[in-house]
Amino acid sequence: MKHIVSGIQPTGSINIGTYLGSIRNFVRLQREYDEHHFMLFIADLHAITIPRDRLELRKTIKELAAMYLACGLRQENLSLFIQSEVPAHSHMSYLLQCFTYMGELERMTQFKDKAQKHEKGVTASLFTYPALMAGDILLYDAEYVPVGEDQKQHLELTRDIAIRVNNRFGEFFTVPKPLIPKVGARIMSLTEPTAKMSKSDANVKSRINMLDTDDIIRKRIRSAVTDSEASFYYDKTNKPGLSNLITIYSALADISIEAVEQKYKDVSYKDFKEALADLVIENLRPIRQRYHELIQSKELDAILDEGAAYASKISNKKAAKFNHKLGLGRKRK
Ligand code: AMP
Ligand code: TRP
Repeated sequence: MKHIVSGIQPTGSINIGTYLGSIRNFVRLQREYDEHHFMLFIADLHAITIPRDRLELRKTIKELAAMYLACGLRQENLSLFIQSEVPAHSHMSYLLQCFTYMGELERMTQFKDKAQKHEKGVTASLFTYPALMAGDILLYDAEYVPVGEDQKQHLELTRDIAIRVNNRFGEFFTVPKPLIPKVGARIMSLTEPTAKMSKSDANVKSRINMLDTDDIIRKRIRSAVTDSEASFYYDKTNKPGLSNLITIYSALADISIEAVEQKYKDVSYKDFKEALADLVIENLRPIRQRYHELIQSKELDAILDEGAAYASKISNKKAAKFNHKLGLGRKRK
């Protein structure tokens, strides 16, 4: 079975930026690559490289799992699981650290960025994070790994590690290829449209969360910053607010930017905002309903149990083989 592997970090609430930039892409890929099996996991071990509140983390893990399913991932070719429930991940992380050089880890831009932000308590795990990620991928001999541009460097290191191991032991790991979306919509803040829409923005009006009510969604869109020119066209530099709203419309309706411009060119900003609010509400309502069904259900736990069981089966086997290659433990009969 050919695998596609990806992990998502359980941090904070999920907004339409994450939905349009990442989750929807995943749902699309799953349909496109229907001969592959998707191993999608909640990367909770990665999340604790930075201190987290335990109850908050636990809540976020489940919310994220439910939200991914609610957004339309299908069961047929998917194993959804929680990373820490599959012990081979942390084991493999250690083994791969033995094949990773300090100099390589020191070059990782994400480490440099995060270390700068948390200069007081930079953990060793933040430093070795890419080896954990390499393990996540190599354990399943993933052929493809869908990630955002920011993870490209980690994936290159994963490939280097795989090649290094293969050079020493013969073809042991599949060398994975990244799948980076060509034009992932980058959704901007509704109040400050030159910055990315982000869950960490202190201003709640800057974003639409996936679980916001219809009323809140409409309010957020009505109060979104635009400009005073009152002519309807896409221009990211001079009309970032309106352009962002056009982008959201285009992504949700699955039509081009030009088609949105054409459709609303004779309409006031106010009327366009109402149409956009209708569209967002219409798209999010069924997701929200499904989410609420799932989050309270045994179904979600069953899906996660099944995912962990399948992932454990494959990863335990691979890890045991690697132990054996390395001469760890006793010779197996
Ligand atoms: P995060 O929730 O920030 O860890 O990001 C999870 C995924 O969603 C990553 O692939 C991001 O690139 C994507 N993402 C997050 N925020 C946005 C945004 N405002 N626009 C587009 N993509 C986003
Ligand atoms: N590091 C990734 C991120 O921050 C998440 C991740 C962990 C991942 N392990 C992975 C992504 C394996 C792809 C494959 O977004």
